[in-house]
Amino acid sequence: MGLLDVEDLSVGYGKMEIVNGVSFSAYKNEIFVIVGPNGSGKSTLLKGLFGLAKVFRGRVLFNGNEVTSLPPHKKSLLGLAYLPQLGNTFENLSVYENLVLAAHDLPRDKFEERLSDILGIFPALRNLLRRKVKTLSGGERQMLALAMNLLRNPLVLMMDEPTAALSPKLAAQVFNQIQALRNEHGLTIILVEQNALKALEIGDRALLLVSGQPKFYGASKELLENRELAKLYLGI
Ligand SMILES: Nc1ncnc2c1ncn2[C@@H]1O[C@H](COP(=O)(O)OP(=O)(O)OP(=O)(O)O)[C@@H](O)[C@H]1O
Ligand SMILES: [Mg+2]
Repeated sequence: MGLLDVEDLSVGYGKMEIVNGVSFSAYKNEIFVIVGPNGSGKSTLLKGLFGLAKVFRGRVLFNGNEVTSLPPHKKSLLGLAYLPQLGNTFENLSVYENLVLAAHDLPRDKFEERLSDILGIFPALRNLLRRKVKTLSGGERQMLALAMNLLRNPLVLMMDEPTAALSPKLAAQVFNQIQALRNEHGLTIILVEQNALKALEIGDRALLLVSGQPKFYGASKELLENRELAKLYLGI
């Protein structure tokens, strides 16, 4: 049993099933990568897991307990975090205010303690605390969105294309941070990425989704070495 177990899950919107029959387990201390062509249902799957899209069938277990139909805030309290494709920051507020909002239900002393941990992980954020988010670069915003999620000390962090729209240099920094979260902080990361090559290189295990169907589930390395799938669906 993993930290997050997904059993035969079907997810969609309204009456439309987009993702069909997906099963996987993500274990403690691993990067679990979800890849696939545009429109294959990667974001929909993450939304279904977090409680933001409709689950038609199947179950989601977190730490062995069924959480399938719990609303997002309840899942978040249990230690599941979700970083959406377009981040989730408040443009007109400062970096510090965003961090306070992200931790609104933590006790004050807990907040200060976590904030100091987070500034240890992202030292560059310290100089940005008073800046309004709308004045930040794409990479700085991504760092803030990540920091806001980490404040709550999640066990499992689901990230939807954290490097989209970043320069190669900033993207490389984000990939390094993701590896550090696994290696130094023991997190489980569910990583949806457009940059399949890099994601599979840093990942431990992977799921390939094509038209909402699972096409591969296994070691990341094995998917990278599968010439047919990698070429056909990932452009590698
Ligand atoms: N809110 C919604 N209502 C109805 N259909 C949606 C909604 N969001 C996404 N879809 C559709 O679901 C399908 C899968 O979309 P999804 O965003 O999950 O794909 P994706 O794999 O994340 O793609 P990308 O790589 O482009 O981010 C697409 O056909 C999309 O148009
Ligand atoms: Mg997407």
